[in-house]
Amino acid sequence: MKKIVVLAGDGIGPEIMDSALRVLNAAAGTDGAAFSFDPQPFGGAALAIGDTPLPAKTLQACQEADAILLGAIGDPRWEKAAYTPEQGLLALRKALGLYANIRPIKVVDAVLHLSPIKESIVKGTDFVIVRELTSGIYFGEKAEEEDIAYDINRYARVEIERIIRQAFTIAQSRQKKVLSVDKANVLATSRLWRRIAEEVAKEFPDCQLTHQYVDSAAMKIMQQPTAFDVIVTENLFGDILSDEASVLPGSLGVLPSASHGVTGVSLYEPIHGSAPDIAGKNIANPVSMILSVVMMLRESFQMEALAATIETACFATMNAGILTQDLGGDATTDRFTAAVIARLGGKQDGKNAI
Ligand code: NAD
Ligand code: IPM
Ligand code: MN
Repeated sequence: MKKIVVLAGDGIGPEIMDSALRVLNAAAGTDGAAFSFDPQPFGGAALAIGDTPLPAKTLQACQEADAILLGAIGDPRWEKAAYTPEQGLLALRKALGLYANIRPIKVVDAVLHLSPIKESIVKGTDFVIVRELTSGIYFGEKAEEEDIAYDINRYARVEIERIIRQAFTIAQSRQKKVLSVDKANVLATSRLWRRIAEEVAKEFPDCQLTHQYVDSAAMKIMQQPTAFDVIVTENLFGDILSDEASVLPGSLGVLPSASHGVTGVSLYEPIHGSAPDIAGKNIANPVSMILSVVMMLRESFQMEALAATIETACFATMNAGILTQDLGGDATTDRFTAAVIARLGGKQDGKNAI
């Protein structure tokens, strides 16, 4: 039995989580007993019932889980809280040592027509952003006073080494091309990053390492997205480049991610946020969450067949023109979910998953 902690979170988080778990239950059918779901309060949803976005009980459940699914956190209501939902998310990543955030950017042919970028440019796009997730400017010393503030960007050798190694390991099962993105013409941290990337590259003689400054990489992601295989970069650059890259498949609402770390438990979440502008309207695109479940099945549980079944049904639904508003369609979250379930080959509807 795989113990999955479910952090539905805020905004559209619970809506897309419900959809993804219904799809998982339906696909697993009678094998559904292979999973147990343990919902825990997190983010604004935890602040609504207590005084912290990351209750000790939630963290403990995560530490003891086989995998963690996270919807999204963040709510304008808690923007000025002493301890915000976002700080809770960073604390969770840090506590679990989730240093490697894997964000695949793939535009499959079935959904090519949904991209706002010309087909000739976007066709064949398939790269992975490997984002460092537990250090850098997010976690350096900071100060915030009335008229002055700062955030220190700090990286230690060991933090750079392990994320670069992770990128090469992923590249070995792909096209063996690693692009390290930095700002070495300005930042000391980037110069250290580049030097260590060169050192680590020697451990992977079958792979090729190149470097690019983040500003020009941002441009090239739109201009020639098929040129990339594995992009490895620091925390803040990875955050920004992955939202930018979401334009390629047509919406932020279709991109999943996996975060791996030092303790063995991994967390799976969409790259987008809680989308307060569309929350509670049954119009959120659940594809990002469904594909996060697919990543969990592959990367934590090695359940390739089940993962492929869900992924195929999800893309087939999109290809059939059943699309949520962010992709120009008019399907509700529920209708899209039902359509995916209908394509799962007659398995039962997984309603009331948790
Ligand atoms: P956002 O990612 O929530 O939304 C950006 C835009 O994309 C919005 O117009 C939204 O409607 C749309 N969008 C996002 N996901 C969608 C989906 N699944 N279907 C359809 N449309 C979708 O970013 P934001 O508005 O800048 O931030 C909102 C809140 O989310 C903030 O509190 C922020 O801190 C938080 N946030 C959380 C996470 C996380 O939980 N990992 C990630 C990013 C932002
Ligand atoms: C993400 C989000 C988070 C980040 C925020 C909500 C702290 O944007 O997961 O991409 O910046 O890492
Ligand atoms: Mn982000």
